[in-house]
Amino acid sequence: MVRFTETMKNRTILVTGGTGYIGSHTVVELQKQGYKVVIIDNLSNSKKNVVNSIKKITGVKPGFKNFDLCDFKKTQNFFKKNKNISAIIHFAAFKAVGESVEKPLDYYNNNLISLINILKCASEFRVNNFVFSSSCTVYGQPDKLPVSEGFPFSPANSPYGSTKQMCEEILRFSSDKININTISLRYFNPVGAHESSLIGELPNGTPNNLVPFITQTAIGKRKCLNVFGQNYNTPDGTCIRDYIHVVDLAKAHIKAVDYLYKDKNKSGYKVFNIGTGTGYSVLDIIKTFEEISEKKLNYKIVDKRKGDIEKIWANTKTANKELDWRAEKSLKEMLSSSWEWEKKINKKS
Ligand code: UD1
Repeated sequence: MVRFTETMKNRTILVTGGTGYIGSHTVVELQKQGYKVVIIDNLSNSKKNVVNSIKKITGVKPGFKNFDLCDFKKTQNFFKKNKNISAIIHFAAFKAVGESVEKPLDYYNNNLISLINILKCASEFRVNNFVFSSSCTVYGQPDKLPVSEGFPFSPANSPYGSTKQMCEEILRFSSDKININTISLRYFNPVGAHESSLIGELPNGTPNNLVPFITQTAIGKRKCLNVFGQNYNTPDGTCIRDYIHVVDLAKAHIKAVDYLYKDKNKSGYKVFNIGTGTGYSVLDIIKTFEEISEKKLNYKIVDKRKGDIEKIWANTKTANKELDWRAEKSLKEMLSSSWEWEKKINKKS
C-alpha cells in the first residue's frame, strides 16, 4: 500500500501529538508518501488504539512513545536515542478554548514549555526542519476578508489563542538563531474524518466545536444544538467560518515538509493559511448536514458565545502557489465523513 521512493525511505519524521485528531490524519498521509513516522503523545486527549487504526489504514505501524514533552529530560533522552529524525511536526498542545479560560496557567505551561523543550532538542540534535500547528485564531476579527498571512495579530480572545500567538513569536524570533527552518500552518476550522472511518475527532465530554456537536445531536447523544447568535452582520445573521476537511489539512503538512526538505524556506520562518478560501455560516452547515444525513436537526438560536468572531475565511494564495497545495474536498464531503465517523463510533460502544 505504501510506496517508497529513493529520497523518502530513510526519512523519519517525529509527529508530536500524533494520536490526536489532526495528528493521526497527518501520520496516515505521511506514511502513504513513504515517510517513516515516530509519534510522541502523552494521550492526554487521545487513545493509544489510534496507532492500530493507523496501521489498519496504511499497513504500517508508526513508532509510538508515551511521555510529556514538558519533561525536558525525557524529551532529550528521546532525541539521544533517535538520531534519525529529519523533521518534526509539532501538534502536541492543549486546544479547548473554554477550558483555557478556566485554566490559563495550565495552557501557558503546557503549550509554551513543550514547544521550547522540543526546539532546544531540535537545535541540540540538529533536526532543522520544523512544522508548527497554528491557528487562524491568531488574527482575531480581521478588518478585511479574506485574511492574508501578513495581517496583524489582534489581542487574543482566550489563553488558548494567546499561546498560539506566543508560540508563533517564539518561532519567528528563534528559528534563524537556532538554525531551524520553520513553517507555521494557520489552520482554519478542521472538520471531517478519514474515509475509512477508522480515525476521526474524539471530543472529550461535551463538544465545544460545531460539527461534533451537530453529529452528536443527530445521533441522539445531545438533545439540541445551540446556535450562538443570529444578529451578526452576515447574510443570515450567523457566524461565518472557513471549514476544511482534515484530510486536506493533513496533506498540507506533507507539502510543508517537502518544502522544507527542498530547502526553499530561506528565511527560516514562514507562515501559511490553510483553509479553503470559502466561508460558510452556521446555518449553511446545518442545512448541508440535513441534506447529506437526511435528518432534521434539532437546533435553536441562543445568545452569542463570548469571544466568537463574526466572520473569517482565508486567502490561500500563498499556500496554493508556494506549497503547491489546495483544499479539494467539498463541504458535503466534510460533513458526510463526520457523519459516517459518528455512526461508526456509536456502533462500537
Ligand atoms: C475555535 C478556535 C480555533 C480552533 C477551533 C478548533 C477561537 C476563536 N477559535 O474555532 O482556533 O482552531 O476552535 O478547535 O478560539 N457554534 C454554534 N454552536 C455550537 C458550537 C459552535 O453555533 O454548539 C458556532 C460558533 O459560534 C462559531 C461556529 O459555530 O460561529 C464554529 O465554532 P467552533 O467549531 O467552536 O470553532 P471556532 O470557535 O470557529
